[in-house]
Amino acid sequence: MALAYDSGNEQKFQELLRRYPEKRAALLPALRLAQGQWNYLSDEVMTYVAGRLELEPAEVRNTATFYTMFRKKPVGKFHVQVCTNIACFLRGSDELMHHCEKKLGIHHGETTEDGLFTLDHVECLAACGTAPMMQVNDDYYENLTVASVDKLIDGWRRSS
Ligand code: FES
Repeated sequence: MALAYDSGNEQKFQELLRRYPEKRAALLPALRLAQGQWNYLSDEVMTYVAGRLELEPAEVRNTATFYTMFRKKPVGKFHVQVCTNIACFLRGSDELMHHCEKKLGIHHGETTEDGLFTLDHVECLAACGTAPMMQVNDDYYENLTVASVDKLIDGWRRSS
């Protein structure tokens, strides 16, 4: 079956087209909508977005590849991204990353067998003043400790 934005995303996509007279300018938000709907940007999804914006699929692929926020492979329900750049590193992000690995039983780039968690370490997410931090899906968690990460992960497990 051919891909299509669901009705909510189609409405948002139409709003984007109204906001950006030049269709190409809507590429990043259109990709964001697509990632939200399909979890990651497969070739098929990128081709779909290209078609909607009258762009070449290769151009969409190049853009999606450039930005690390766009996923090219599926992730778990909770995409845990621990910042390990300098400010976070100096405030213990290594310890947090190792703790996540141990608690979840996975390493960087892996997903738990139940599909709940994907773990990644990432470069600076521009929240250095509240290091160490991590991003989980669209939310930032800052001033983290091993204990607070533990609590967060337990909470997500319980809620799923
Ligand atoms: S170094 Fe971690 S947010 Fe900047």
